[in-house]
Amino acid sequence: MILVNKENMEFHLHNSKISYIFNVMQNGQLGHLYFGKKLKHRDSFTHFFKKPIQGVGIIAHHKDDSAFSLEYYKQEFPSYGTTDFRKPAVKILQENGSRITDFKYDSHKIISGKPKVEGLPSTYVESSNEATTLEIKLIDSVLDCELYLTYTIYENRAVITRNSRLENKGNQKLIIENLMSTSIDFPDYDYQMIHLSGAWGRERHIKTRNLEKGCQYIDSTRGSSSAHQNPFIALKRKNTNEHSGEVFGFSLVYSGNFLAHIEVDHFDSSRVTMGINPFDFSWELNKNDIFQSPEAIMVYSDNGLNDMSHEYHSLFRERLVRGIWRDKERPILINNWEATYFDFNEDKLMKIVEESSKLGFELFVLDDGWFGERNGDDSSLGDWFVNEKKLPNGLSGLQEKISKYNMKLGLWFEPEMISEKSELFKKNPHWVLGVSDRTLSLGRNQYVLDLSFEEVQSYIIEIVGERIKEGKISYIKWDMNRNMTEITDKSKAHKYILGLYKILDTLTANFPEVLFESCASGGNRFDPGMLYYMQQTWTSDDTDAIERLKIQYGTSIVYPTITMGAHVSDVANHQTARITSLDIRNKVAFFGNFGYELDISKFSDSQKLEVKENLEYFKENRKLFQFGDFIRLSSPFESNFVSWMTVSSDKSEAIIGYYEILADANPTYNKKIKLKGLNEDFLYKINDEYEAYGDELMNMGIVFDQPHRYYSSDSQSLDFHGKLFKLTKIN
Ligand code: DGJ
Repeated sequence: MILVNKENMEFHLHNSKISYIFNVMQNGQLGHLYFGKKLKHRDSFTHFFKKPIQGVGIIAHHKDDSAFSLEYYKQEFPSYGTTDFRKPAVKILQENGSRITDFKYDSHKIISGKPKVEGLPSTYVESSNEATTLEIKLIDSVLDCELYLTYTIYENRAVITRNSRLENKGNQKLIIENLMSTSIDFPDYDYQMIHLSGAWGRERHIKTRNLEKGCQYIDSTRGSSSAHQNPFIALKRKNTNEHSGEVFGFSLVYSGNFLAHIEVDHFDSSRVTMGINPFDFSWELNKNDIFQSPEAIMVYSDNGLNDMSHEYHSLFRERLVRGIWRDKERPILINNWEATYFDFNEDKLMKIVEESSKLGFELFVLDDGWFGERNGDDSSLGDWFVNEKKLPNGLSGLQEKISKYNMKLGLWFEPEMISEKSELFKKNPHWVLGVSDRTLSLGRNQYVLDLSFEEVQSYIIEIVGERIKEGKISYIKWDMNRNMTEITDKSKAHKYILGLYKILDTLTANFPEVLFESCASGGNRFDPGMLYYMQQTWTSDDTDAIERLKIQYGTSIVYPTITMGAHVSDVANHQTARITSLDIRNKVAFFGNFGYELDISKFSDSQKLEVKENLEYFKENRKLFQFGDFIRLSSPFESNFVSWMTVSSDKSEAIIGYYEILADANPTYNKKIKLKGLNEDFLYKINDEYEAYGDELMNMGIVFDQPHRYYSSDSQSLDFHGKLFKLTKIN
């Protein structure tokens, strides 16, 4: 999968889908030649390398060649300080105040498989023939500093992963001000940039903008990857849609401050860089120190956004998420948060358990409020000891009772935080993250623990572990409800994330049977870094079915449905006050990691029956919902009619979700949804109603009747309604 043209020093990474080509330029630095659809290998790609027309303004990098200026060349990992005036991928402050670097090719290694990215989460292989890795060593001889660029190409995926690493071999202290994970110079800027932007309660909405001359970027400075911008961008051609056209995806396996930056220069080339945010970042590198960047995952498709998403979904599902839960169907949970908030005791919880077990729920999740004196959000974070006033039999007593109903117990934690009103704060006020000469900001009445301290890491590992053992906990919801402020120094935010990863590495290794769900006020840290440790993420606190259409649709651009927690909650909805039917709430939540969070014991018998039937339907189709290929058909960002589908890998089964947000009067009788991803020769049965071949369903579409609009005093609103179509291949 990796060929080297030794004469011209060209590297060609290729598989059946993509090619990625770069070379060693005449000055010893790396030049970029091509990334895109697979190309036939040739002994030379030198014709891809165009020298600029010599003209006004060139500052020659080399006195022997007046046309050689880095400003005009496509590069692979550009440095700062010589003749390139665009944003660099690496910037290092030296003892003499200079930031100039000149990393030249020294040697390379080809490795079968994929080495671990030290100390950081990353995608992996299970056998060495799944992927091949190229490691390029570059040296700045003035600094005696080595830069390693690592590229992995998987055998059957349109994916290149990259990371970079600096090793200081010299005697001077170096300060890294910027080390990107990836950098690539595209020859033109005829692209639109897609990113996933939002805020609490409306995470990962799809935003699209044309690239323009100059710089454009998204980033996070909050200490978490954030709900505001996800660590992902894509560049697509203007005519690329869900099903056709070129697109390049960039995703960062990191949970802290990141930057995704695009600079379009005066000759129309677009430089994409992605990595840890250089804003408020620096890292001291003394002799023999190593600094490792996170992994960036680049995907190429010429078959539209769905195909790019499919590459991310299958990679994340199969080679990012780990542990025994990776390939297992996930339990249907019921969570008590919106049912009780802080106001519960064992009796109240057991009522929910008793009712929900009859309806088919498999896991009861006890949310916030079970520990210390936590009766509101102003105390006890850090005191992870059971509140015996609420739970007189402790976690073990509760677990025993729950197990009698054939259900498992899950538990909420927010281990990264500390309340001022807590025993932990009295004992260890110095564990709080923040500078001492400033007033510390409070978020939800809490401070952040400084996870870069080893004693803090050990405390969390120990206390969480004790509770897991005590309550035979099967599932953990790991919350994190505020961003970092008053950060002490420029390395702190990254050190915090390294501390977090260390804690998670240990806990997940110690308790491999526990299913972890990452939560940060919902989706404030929905990123591939967290997915490496925690198999699923609470997508958003916003559980309104209509809002969820946008949130789940946007999230699916990068993340597979099995990673997205999706719950049915009460109406009026606690985030939007909207009233929707139980029917549509189920039909939206099915396309995620399905669960409920409401007080089921208050439901009427007919509502309970509806819940039971929905759970049965979900269980029958759970594999298809959780492991099928998810395809977006019609976008809530563009239409009143939303649809998506999931198809089994052998294409013998599919379920289509169709949703109408607002009812229209006198609608067309001719509504059709054109499906995708089926086998055109298979004959499918549709909801036991009629039969059609795959080619009809994909080209003519599913045809269906609109519910009849009429008015009578007891008529139900047709706003917010949904329909599912189950397709089954007829043998
Ligand atoms: C924020 C989470 O997103 C909610 O689901 C809930 O767990 C609360 N925190 C509890 O404080």
